[in-house]
Amino acid sequence: MANIAVVTGASSGVGREFVRQFDRGAGGPLDQIWVIARNAEALEVIAEQTATPVRVFALDLTKRSSYECLHDALEEEAPTVQWLVNSAGFGKFGDFGQISEEDEGNMVRLNCLAVVEATYHCLPHMVAGSRVVNMASIAGLIPQPGLSTYSATKRFVVDLSRTLDYELGPVGIHVCAVCPKFMETGFLANPGDAREVRRMTTIGYEKPADVVRKALHAAVLGRSTCVTSPDMMAASVVAKVLPASWVMRAQDLFFTARAGE
Ligand SMILES: NC(=O)c1ccc[n+]([C@@H]2O[C@H](COP(=O)([O-])OP(=O)(O)OC[C@H]3O[C@@H](n4cnc5c(N)ncnc54)[C@H](OP(=O)(O)O)[C@@H]3O)[C@@H](O)[C@H]2O)c1
Repeated sequence: MANIAVVTGASSGVGREFVRQFDRGAGGPLDQIWVIARNAEALEVIAEQTATPVRVFALDLTKRSSYECLHDALEEEAPTVQWLVNSAGFGKFGDFGQISEEDEGNMVRLNCLAVVEATYHCLPHMVAGSRVVNMASIAGLIPQPGLSTYSATKRFVVDLSRTLDYELGPVGIHVCAVCPKFMETGFLANPGDAREVRRMTTIGYEKPADVVRKALHAAVLGRSTCVTSPDMMAASVVAKVLPASWVMRAQDLFFTARAGE
């Protein structure tokens, strides 16, 4: 039976970095890596650059029919899913009413529902030692006005990861929500309100390679949450004990001061 990793959002950014690190053996021996995103061409390029055999699934994960395709392939091949990485996701910055209804809805469909669906279909093919890595965000631990729907979708990912990890722990499967700050990936290519982006990114950036390395380490250790930078770890501890309204006000003042507005 083939041991595989399934990576959504594999065509760029963090997902592509997971594929690279799996290919170098970071996730243990794998017979295949299954890569999922809409951009078939980008996935084919990754397949060509990867020594481990790659199976390409050009799917739009906001569409229900995409999961039938994944389900059928899993039933047909009956692999052992050692790793599921849910990295597909996007965020739009700006006031709630300024973001299109389509984008608001698709953030929920992709950032939340796709994580549920992909996990649901992969879980029957997992065994003790298998891991699910869900790309959340520090926005899932610290509420972010100006990024409200995105922030709420990532809170969903954090809570789903923690509860599933608890449920599945007894059978040796662990689920980890990864909470980085910003990274210079496709995520920031078309992000919406440029002023909000400028203000919020004053907290600084992490490198996708570091985030993925820390995420894999945390997942192997069976941790259900991985905050990948020390400053955000401290901020998330403070945010946990203070009222949410204080946290949001303090952030606002911080961003305004840092952005020099
Ligand atoms: N970069 C950051 O600052 C940051 C910070 C915290 C958390 N995150 C989270 O990290 C994850 C990865 O983001 P990234 O930084 O790697 O951004 P990215 O470079 O834009 O990658 C996003 C991936 O999602 C895929 N995707 C988008 N819409 C899709 C759809 N409808 N169906 C299937 N795949 C879709 C994209 O591929 P196609 O376009 O080919 O479909 C791409 O592979 C996301 O969940 C994001 O929320 C990012």
